Amino acid sequence: MCRQQIAVELAELEDFDWGHVFGNTNPVELEIGSGKAGFLLRRARARPERNFFGLEWANKYYRFAVDRMERWQVANVRLLRLDASHFIRVVCPRTSLSALHVYHPDPWPKKRHFKRRLFQQPFVDAAAACLEHGGHFAVQTDHAGYFETIRALLCSHPELRETPFDDPAFGVEAARVSTNYEIKYQHEGRRIYQIAAKRV
Ligand SMILES: C[S@@+](CC[C@H](N)C(=O)[O-])C[C@H]1O[C@@H](n2cnc3c(N)ncnc32)[C@H](O)[C@@H]1O
Repeated sequence: MCRQQIAVELAELEDFDWGHVFGNTNPVELEIGSGKAGFLLRRARARPERNFFGLEWANKYYRFAVDRMERWQVANVRLLRLDASHFIRVVCPRTSLSALHVYHPDPWPKKRHFKRRLFQQPFVDAAAACLEHGGHFAVQTDHAGYFETIRALLCSHPELRETPFDDPAFGVEAARVSTNYEIKYQHEGRRIYQIAAKRV
């Protein structure tokens, strides 16, 4: 499998269309901040009938993830190096995602840096609009304060309803997503906070 098939080029963002990106009309799940893409790889291999799209801003992790997908020859994953907030607000087609995964978003713990956080009202509004009706939005973090902000944003959104994180229809088993950060933080004994919501 050649690099171009996994890596999505910025030129493809014009008239962006999932069918064009994946070459089929299967349901699309998007992961923001996929890091080394352990979650995306496991989930994509377990669900070949679905498409998986990873957004990662850091070049080092993006390249690692592209190489990893090439090594495993997964046909149903595409990766893009772009700011996820921009992609969700401007590029992502509305009512097009069956799931949106955000695991361990950077918490920016200092108050003066809160404005850098991904979870802000305009992002959540756009993210909800990108989900299909019935689509899932799953978020996990180890940061209690950021979690309260995320929960308040999701629970107050008129089109989102909280749903069990390990909903069998969604497919995250035993509430484990097993991203690199989850594994690391569990070894350190840190508490992990999770929330999932459905677009109604
Ligand atoms: C704390 S790491 C978590 C990685 C992975 N989700 C995990 O749980 O192991 C956060 C990741 O999100 C990426 N990231 C942060 N802000 C981003 C943004 N605006 N757009 C895309 N990726 C972003 C970072 O580069 C980093 O790889």
